[in-house]
Amino acid sequence: MKTEVAYVCSDCGASQQKWAGQCEACGAWNTLKKFSVPKTPLRSAGTSANTVSGMSITSSQSFMSLASSDTKPTQSTGIGFLDQMLSGGLVHGSVTLLGGEPGIGKSTLLAQLALTFANTERSVVYVTGEESPSQVRLRLGRLSAKIPESVRFFDTTSAESIASMVMQERPALVIVDSVQTIRMEGVPGEAGNPSQIKASSALITEAAKKSHVPVIFVGQVTKDGDLAGPRLLEHLVDTVAMLEGERYQTLRILRLTKHRFGTTEASSVLLMTEKGLQEMKDPSAFLIAHRPQNVSGSVLSCLLHGSRPLAVEIQALVSPSGFGTPARRVSGVDPTRVNLLLAVLAKRAGIGFSDQDVFVNAVGGVSADDPSVDVAIALALVSAKKDVPLPPLWAAFGEVGLAGELRTAQGTSVRVKELQRLGITSALVADIGSPLKAGTMKIMTAKTIKEALEKAGL
Ligand code: TYD
Ligand code: MG
Repeated sequence: MKTEVAYVCSDCGASQQKWAGQCEACGAWNTLKKFSVPKTPLRSAGTSANTVSGMSITSSQSFMSLASSDTKPTQSTGIGFLDQMLSGGLVHGSVTLLGGEPGIGKSTLLAQLALTFANTERSVVYVTGEESPSQVRLRLGRLSAKIPESVRFFDTTSAESIASMVMQERPALVIVDSVQTIRMEGVPGEAGNPSQIKASSALITEAAKKSHVPVIFVGQVTKDGDLAGPRLLEHLVDTVAMLEGERYQTLRILRLTKHRFGTTEASSVLLMTEKGLQEMKDPSAFLIAHRPQNVSGSVLSCLLHGSRPLAVEIQALVSPSGFGTPARRVSGVDPTRVNLLLAVLAKRAGIGFSDQDVFVNAVGGVSADDPSVDVAIALALVSAKKDVPLPPLWAAFGEVGLAGELRTAQGTSVRVKELQRLGITSALVADIGSPLKAGTMKIMTAKTIKEALEKAGL
């Protein structure tokens, strides 16, 4: 097959002929990498299509001609939190991408899913591209004393073999772990490069749709989101789920970033245990259980995941820096927002950090990248710098603008309710002009970050 050079965006997978600093399709910077791609289209048009000068002609069809089984095709996964997140379960012929950093628990979650699926006599095929079948067997054995006969493996890295297995065997579920290890004949490059990932997953997706078999792809995401970027497959698959957390901590959050068959509102907070990932019943309480008392730099806040509140503790540590550029290290919060807040504090409240090392952490491995934690981060920074702890049972949330103004966070009453349930007695929020109904909770309002600092006694 003839090849030509193309520049492929590692984020969205779009290819263009000339190199540029920015991807024309998704606008990402410095993501274009040089690849050889096949000159001819990877697949010919559908089999029933006629072609006229290269264009395929197909005819339209009445929706009523579809069998009703095609319109109500969900099957329960057997795992409560998954069914809830997926609005009922897995849709027949749907393709899901499960993304996450290495070691976060993707294979564990899918092994659990394979076991529960098989417990109801449904056959599951686990494509072992990344690990050997015996490694996967070990994991299954750790999770369950008995591995049902109907959990099967297929040891291959060939996209064509997977597609034909899907078409012939039609199992109830196929898991491909991982999509980065699959190759397709005739497509140049190693497994894991964008053209290979796109071509092989497109082929398997086509087989899934034709045979009504749900397929789950595992997608490895590196820290810098390189090559394996989940956006590469985002438009191809029906559902994108992300498993997040800190590898060496036990908390995991499973979120949907795309779902064609329902909302992406629901998320699950999970705990990595010896028996795999288990749903956590009261994650907020878990996250704040070991909160230090009377220590400076700790502020409680509340996130909103979809419609679900999640209490989170923000910690900051500020110490005089030595020579050179002061350190800025963050974990679980957005580094650009922290930099912005440092600038706002300097400019609008006269509190500078230019000679200080700054560390900010969202406790428990939660990703608190939602701007509603801004005010909590700012308060934690000032509390740490002045070494003044905030009052106990006190929380704050709201976005901070460039002018130092506080903006209200959506779902204020849901967050207030959650904090109240956890025994928090006072909350500082943005002043929205109208009083907030908050039961027994004392609500303090502030219009600016300066006012928020005063109210917090800083
Ligand atoms: P794994 O699912 O292999 O991660 P991924 O597929 O995302 O790379 O699991 C990662 C970690 O989970 C591994 O360090 C071991 C741990 N683990 C448990 O804590 N409990 C378990 O029951 C299992 C199977 C794994
Ligand atoms: Mg794995």
